[in-house]
Amino acid sequence: MQVRQSEIILDIVDAAKKAKCKIADLACGDYETYGKFNLSTAARHFGSWTAARKAAARANPSKLQAALKQHLLDELKEDKKAHILDVFKRQLRDNGEAPAMADLVQAGLSKDVLNRCFGSLGALEALVRKESPELFKDVTIRSLFSPSAFASLDKAVAEKKRFVITTAVTGCKVHEGFYASVKEFCRENDAALLIMVTSDPAHNRDRGEPGVSKQERYGTIAAKLAGEHIVLRDTALNDNLKLSTLKTSAKMINPLTGVKRLVQKNGNLIVASPKQIQQCVPVSNFRLPHVGMSTGAITVSNYSTDNYMSERLAYIAEHDHTIGAIIVEIEDSELFHYRQIQADVDGSFYDIAGLQLKKYTPKGVKKVDLKKENAGALVMGDWHSGETDPIVAQAWKDLCLIVSPDYLLVHDGFNGLSINHHEEHDFIKKAQRALSGQLSLEAELKQFAADIDMLSQFAKKAVVIVKSNHDDFLHRYLKEGKYVVDPQNHLFSLDLAKAAIQGEDALQFAIEKAVGLDDKTNVRWLKRNEDFKIARIQLGAHGDKGSNGSRGTLAQMEEAFGYSVTGHSHVPSILRGAWSVGTSSFLQLDYNSDSPSSWMNTSCIVYPNGQRQLINCIFGKWALGCQAPTTEEA
Ligand SMILES: [Fe+2]
Ligand SMILES: [Fe+2]
Repeated sequence: MQVRQSEIILDIVDAAKKAKCKIADLACGDYETYGKFNLSTAARHFGSWTAARKAAARANPSKLQAALKQHLLDELKEDKKAHILDVFKRQLRDNGEAPAMADLVQAGLSKDVLNRCFGSLGALEALVRKESPELFKDVTIRSLFSPSAFASLDKAVAEKKRFVITTAVTGCKVHEGFYASVKEFCRENDAALLIMVTSDPAHNRDRGEPGVSKQERYGTIAAKLAGEHIVLRDTALNDNLKLSTLKTSAKMINPLTGVKRLVQKNGNLIVASPKQIQQCVPVSNFRLPHVGMSTGAITVSNYSTDNYMSERLAYIAEHDHTIGAIIVEIEDSELFHYRQIQADVDGSFYDIAGLQLKKYTPKGVKKVDLKKENAGALVMGDWHSGETDPIVAQAWKDLCLIVSPDYLLVHDGFNGLSINHHEEHDFIKKAQRALSGQLSLEAELKQFAADIDMLSQFAKKAVVIVKSNHDDFLHRYLKEGKYVVDPQNHLFSLDLAKAAIQGEDALQFAIEKAVGLDDKTNVRWLKRNEDFKIARIQLGAHGDKGSNGSRGTLAQMEEAFGYSVTGHSHVPSILRGAWSVGTSSFLQLDYNSDSPSSWMNTSCIVYPNGQRQLINCIFGKWALGCQAPTTEEA
């Protein structure tokens, strides 16, 4: 009503101007001629034409004009707000998740108008969450901080021995198949699912609750995960392993960047990330290293962003995103086992929990028939025949009985201790080796041949000897004529030298012809320039040589092959697609005994679908439930 009157007043002022008279002198006829409203309208609102004219004379036209404009704008804003709310809710219903600004702009809305109407996209979302919570399929993580949730997590940690640890990226949908498969695993193996949280700030910008400080904005996770154990504070699974809530960005190229010294100081650490990375850090001259690792995700990748400068990292993060987790088994307050899983497209995965190979699928658990479905390969930690730890060797034999690999990959199989050029001028060491009977090349080759014969029983198709730097010791020994001045091995080496001159692989010749194998048909000798791949994963490189003659590193392997499992470093590591096994030798050898070591006894199972698991043998144990063999048994 007030505005209506204002409009009439402005109309009377306008009519007086057009009639070129004062308002007091404005006649009825003039108003009829110039006014937009008729007299009866004016009289109805003011009681009489005279009252209307007096009101107009008293009024301040410029203030009235501004008030009227504001009202019209307010009316317009209300219309726009209703429209924006309508579009937001429609997209929320259609897509099952709150729309990003880009989605709303695509639907014809203006970012500026939205911000003028609601302050920000986050404020708009908060308003809709408050008014229509039933439309959302996710919940704010802040709402999950509760004493009962923490108590429930503590109870699970205290009671369970087996855990599946994965990461939810805020604002992203759950991988339904993997979630269902993990639930099957937990049911089958009495395990607890622990979900860590990470965020992609560029994807989630403007989200969170208005009025909440940035530090306390955690974003949202799928409502169906809200009933699981969400790890919102640092949680120790035993005295030696902690889940860290260190805030990592979901898009970090390497989520362990800067974390190594925390791992060194504080112990084994798992951090949240949709990527799988593992790094070992030495802590002593003789103790086992500490391991830092990231988990992989239970949410599907979504790094869409309106921020142009974030698109590069988003693209890379999409590439590295791994649907997966880490399975942890607790032996006691100190010892634990861990192994990675990565999901197949449908969310299923293999694991050896309970010392049985089973496939966990969204539809249930399947005990694998090893005659039809078995591991593609077991890449053993560097073998180093003669210095192989018999307890570790026994562990891999036991593991083979469980996963029945088609191929057993052997790195640094021949150790070359008897002809080691690194000890050529170390007369003390050579004297010690002479006293221990370690300088006979023939005896060392016989030991390696016996090892190959033994391993052959555990490979369904073949033992694959990966050409390695220790294997090359023999070729170098012959090439440089070292055998000429090595009385003990001179005669035996002559045939090997001749074979080498004739273009044969000296080590293969020595094992197959000079020493002999029980059955050489199921042994495959790889050349340096040969690939050996299972599920596009390169298994045919030792890892000592990088691109174009450079020194091999895991980063080099990633650059060269994308997906690989290599050896050589003796340090089990994961750099996204590039994995490295440890060693099967004793952990203290002559060439690492004078420095801090991060060596571990670790092998890698490669499944035919490309899933990989690093298996660590620690004091003879490699999974919950297995018995550590004694030296005599091994
Ligand atoms: Fe090596
Ligand atoms: Fe090695």
